[in-house]
Amino acid sequence: MSDVTPEFLSIDPADLPASDAYAIMLHCVAPRPIAFVSTLSADGIPNLAPFSYFMAGGANPPSVVISPTTRPDGSKKHTQTNIEATGEYVINVVTAAIAEQMNQTSADYPEGYSEWEPSGLHPLAAVKVKPARVAESPLAIECRLHTVVGHGTGPLSANYIIGEIVQFHVRKDLLREDGRIDARRVGYVARMGGSWYAHAEPENMFELARPAAPNL
Ligand SMILES: Cc1cc2nc3c(=O)[nH]c(=O)nc-3n(C[C@H](O)[C@H](O)[C@H](O)COP(=O)(O)O)c2cc1C
Repeated sequence: MSDVTPEFLSIDPADLPASDAYAIMLHCVAPRPIAFVSTLSADGIPNLAPFSYFMAGGANPPSVVISPTTRPDGSKKHTQTNIEATGEYVINVVTAAIAEQMNQTSADYPEGYSEWEPSGLHPLAAVKVKPARVAESPLAIECRLHTVVGHGTGPLSANYIIGEIVQFHVRKDLLREDGRIDARRVGYVARMGGSWYAHAEPENMFELARPAAPNL
């Protein structure tokens, strides 16, 4: 740690244990959307878990990335094991209405235990993949595995799971008259550092039009 400028701590992650780097990173990349991921094990047992290491990367074809990190004992999270085994998953958007249930599914349940039961959430059949989607989520994305890219080794190392979107589900009450989704109607919940969350309520949202480049 050094003081490059008096107002800032300047930190080389190589000087930190991974858990401390993780704690700072969670505040730097925030608020993060939450992918509520439904999978099936190779034996067909359903699994549901949230991942806020979640981003979109492009739309031709549309694709998304999640990263279940490696567990403290070096093992993979069940979501990753299941996606690698079956190649299929559904990402459900988390809203304030299901934030508590989503959090419930993040407990460290043993392998082979379905988090659907304690969550109280309801499954709906997906169209192109076998795992169910969450009926209470207003937006869902069916995905097929493209690639898994590991970065690092051991606890908290990254496992970037890139998936191609093969089907969208959009609840109709989110749609404006022009058929586009109204962001103010979704009720998004996002993850920040520590155990903090943000709720995107209409009164805290604003629009910025994209500027045209000036004539230089
Ligand atoms: C809001 C939220 C976001 C989370 N994001 C991640 C994440 O991006 N990566 C990760 O490895 N774990 C994340 N977790 C923890 C996992 O959900 C947790 O380890 C879960 O038990 C994994 O389940 P699985 O083994 O069934 O896949 C998150 C937990 C919560 C509550």
